[in-house]
Amino acid sequence: MPATPFSALLVENVHADADAVLQQHGPIAIERMTGSPDPEAIRAKLATAHLLGIRSRTHVDAALLDAAPALEAVGCFCIGTNQVDLDEASRRGVAVFNAPFANTRSVAELTMASIVMLMRRVPEKMFAIHQGGWLKTAEGAYEVRKKKLGIVGYGNIGAQLSVIASAFGMHVHYYDIEPKLAHGNARGMDSLDALLRECDVVTLHVPSTARTKNLMNAARIAAMKPGAFLINQARGDLVDVDALAAALESGHLAGAAVDVFPKEPKSKDEAFESPLQKFKNVILTPHIGGSTLEAQAAIGHDAASKLGKYLYEGGTMHAVNFPRIDPGPVREGRTRILVPHANAPGFLRRLNDAAERAGLNVAAQYLQTEAELGYAIADLEGAVPSDFLDRIRALDGTIRARLIAAPEAIRSAA
Ligand code: NAI
Repeated sequence: MPATPFSALLVENVHADADAVLQQHGPIAIERMTGSPDPEAIRAKLATAHLLGIRSRTHVDAALLDAAPALEAVGCFCIGTNQVDLDEASRRGVAVFNAPFANTRSVAELTMASIVMLMRRVPEKMFAIHQGGWLKTAEGAYEVRKKKLGIVGYGNIGAQLSVIASAFGMHVHYYDIEPKLAHGNARGMDSLDALLRECDVVTLHVPSTARTKNLMNAARIAAMKPGAFLINQARGDLVDVDALAAALESGHLAGAAVDVFPKEPKSKDEAFESPLQKFKNVILTPHIGGSTLEAQAAIGHDAASKLGKYLYEGGTMHAVNFPRIDPGPVREGRTRILVPHANAPGFLRRLNDAAERAGLNVAAQYLQTEAELGYAIADLEGAVPSDFLDRIRALDGTIRARLIAAPEAIRSAA
């Protein structure tokens, strides 16, 4: 089989490292468009591209996908995938990937810094000194050592924060709805209320779900220790902001750090408004928890490596809209066929019959389905007839199909 001449279009200034990471998997011709090009310009370039790399501003909808008949996968070089119509992508057998955990360290560091700043009462002192004041006092200022930190949500960020806070000498408590292995001496709590009653600082690291909406409502905020601090650097709808403002007003809480809000400006031209703005003991930041150059590089590596793996192996373990399979590299002497198809009875039989009729031995096979989409992979031994791909494309249920040779064959033909 000849080398597959893959090509990728990367827009929106995807991190520069992505090129090298993509090419580690095999030859890929990469074209870049700077900034956020209009859909017309992207569509014109997509006639032959196999991969599209975007960030959050490019909308991948049915019209764009229709203009991209060769497109195998979309890589969102960011966290969210709202900008992609995932159903339309699945319907066309186009896999979509993102980089959901590449910025977790950045958030954990900001949270740790916020804990120190709040406990030292730095926000009030900073406001004062900027206006000529000099609040040189130890009143209400504490070391974080030996204080109790309550982490709500012990996932990627919560667990990293646990390690960092322990190194600062904090007594870490956590609450999660899933069983989680404690890091170091961290103590798992049986209930959120028990954690709230116990801790000097409570920090939220849960996703936004029906169950976590207004997780910190007036009653829960009231259940926190008097003089405690609340941090929300996760999602804006986890906290009842009016209830938080009331608790700060009454002095029940000693301060807060908030990075995410129920209503956030869409651009820097829109004004930000929140009842929290008037409090000098509150650290407000514009949703920058994960915004560091290191996180950008990590996102570039993560998303590019998932795209490269999909193109050269068919692996979909971290796809957001595809059944998940990790078939590993194609073995020498074998040819892999990858077939996203309609999830209905009989497809695997038709695929295997076609292989048998072509005189091919199915040496390995993988199938996963999710909702209406099925994904079948077969590793074939024997000489693949030149019309084999057309035969598979003509099978009842096939959405798309492609062949991948073993890496040695691709490299020697490149
Ligand atoms: P993750 O999925 O690794 O961890 C979330 C944890 O929360 C899981 O262990 C889960 O079991 C737990 N959980 C879910 N519902 C819960 C509930 N009702 N009570 C207690 N625990 C619950 O997520 P990750 O990566 O740690 O992210 C955490 C949050 O941080 C997410 O909301 C994410 O959107 C946000 N985030 C914010 C950023 C920013 O810029 N400020 C950047 C990156 C993430």
